[in-house]
Amino acid sequence: MVAVAILAAGRGTRMKSDLPKVLHQLGSSTLVGRVLESCVSIQPSRIIVIVGYRGDLVQKSLLDNIDNDNIPTLEFVEQTEQLGTGHAIQQLLPYLKEFSEDLLVLNGDVPLLRPETLKQLINTHKENQNSATILTANLPNPKGYGRIFCDTSNIVTQIVEDRDCTAAQKKNYRVNAGVYCFKWPALAQILPQLKPNNDQQEYYLTDTVNFLNPVMAVDVNDYQEIVGINDRKHLATAYEILQMRVKDDWMAAGVTLIDPDSITIDDTVLLQRDVIIEPQTHIRGRSTIGAGSRIGPGSLIENSQIGKNTSVLYSVISDSVVADHTRIGPYAHLRGDSQVGSHCRIGNFVELKKATVADRSNAAHLSYLGDATLGEKVNVGAGTITANYDGVKKHHTKIGDRSKTGSNSVLVAPVTLGEDVTVAAGSVVTKDVEDDSLVIARSRQLVRKGWRLKQSEDNG
Ligand code: UD1
Ligand code: CA
Repeated sequence: MVAVAILAAGRGTRMKSDLPKVLHQLGSSTLVGRVLESCVSIQPSRIIVIVGYRGDLVQKSLLDNIDNDNIPTLEFVEQTEQLGTGHAIQQLLPYLKEFSEDLLVLNGDVPLLRPETLKQLINTHKENQNSATILTANLPNPKGYGRIFCDTSNIVTQIVEDRDCTAAQKKNYRVNAGVYCFKWPALAQILPQLKPNNDQQEYYLTDTVNFLNPVMAVDVNDYQEIVGINDRKHLATAYEILQMRVKDDWMAAGVTLIDPDSITIDDTVLLQRDVIIEPQTHIRGRSTIGAGSRIGPGSLIENSQIGKNTSVLYSVISDSVVADHTRIGPYAHLRGDSQVGSHCRIGNFVELKKATVADRSNAAHLSYLGDATLGEKVNVGAGTITANYDGVKKHHTKIGDRSKTGSNSVLVAPVTLGEDVTVAAGSVVTKDVEDDSLVIARSRQLVRKGWRLKQSEDNG
């Protein structure tokens, strides 16, 4: 068993942000949220998060978003002044007095680590009985990373930060990933000896390698895993890497992506076989798409469940559910817990808000259906509006099975239309309508034949 410490106290000055760096969003999760997720599968005995800059915010974000029963209760330790990564780990000294196992240290800004990589690091550490084992990689562009110097058997002799490197040292492209496994008792003993003798005058965790023996470096298989986020450009790079991983996995699982570069898919999304995602489509959060459905072009699906063989064209769907064989769009907006049944058609500038539409119903043109329940085989005429808001409260509209609303009708809620009701075009319905009725709620057409002629005669 190992304990995990996550370094999340820094401000992240280079982000130029009011938000602590580790709370910046990378797809569906924050940087530090991802670091936390990456270590869950190694089943740590404890997880300690070191917080400092806006620590309350970091703590709240982690506690609010934990979505995993296998995580031990998070422990938080405060680093009031951020004097470097070594100083951050020094804060654990009084806290881990009795602790005698290994400590896995993760930088809170290295969000793309795979669990297998952490396992491999820990295994190497244990097998070789190292004092410390450090994850490393050869980067094509190592700028900004600490450089690792090893002997021929991967025993680390020195780590030098990029800014402290000589020109010759900068030619070493092997970098420190910011992921370490330490024998805690050995580390605890030498932590007080760190000195801030460097360009930033900080206490570097990396300097501990000068006092520990043996310290071993382990190269990561895929160097893209260790990307550290220091500025917005790194954040964009990490997002690209993440997207590539997600999309490659879905294509391998039988999903067609047309023009993948123009599509984004959160790693929390689930797609079934033979889903086709068309260009400029974005699928986010806890969304699922059923087999054979075609999403896009130009659609945004957020926290929504789409059934099988359904199509969504140029539309936005959030927090909603759509069943099978239904056509959404072009230009529909479903939101606020809307539910659409199977074999329905919703589109051409139709907005649904907290609306439930049963099977085989259509709202095909220019409608707003808010706080409404529609039965089966309902036909909503073009321009039908549920007037659900009286300026203070929202009210409900109910439309029974097989009812039809005429074009441009307004249903003033609260109002209930029974089954098999027909609403005449242009009606403003303010009262409930019984089953099997026609309702006409508009002024009668008046025609005065020859009216203009009569007017001119009267005027002499
Ligand atoms: C660090 C490593 C560097 C490595 C790189 C990998 C050190 C001295 N350098 O550099 O060798 O290549 O990570 O990404 O460790 N933090 C605290 N308290 C502090 C300072 C930082 O908790 O006082 C946290 C930050 O919130 C961040 C992490 O530690 O999550 C790393 O800090 P950062 O300043 O980004 O270190 P780098 O310069 O990237
Ligand atoms: Ca960093």
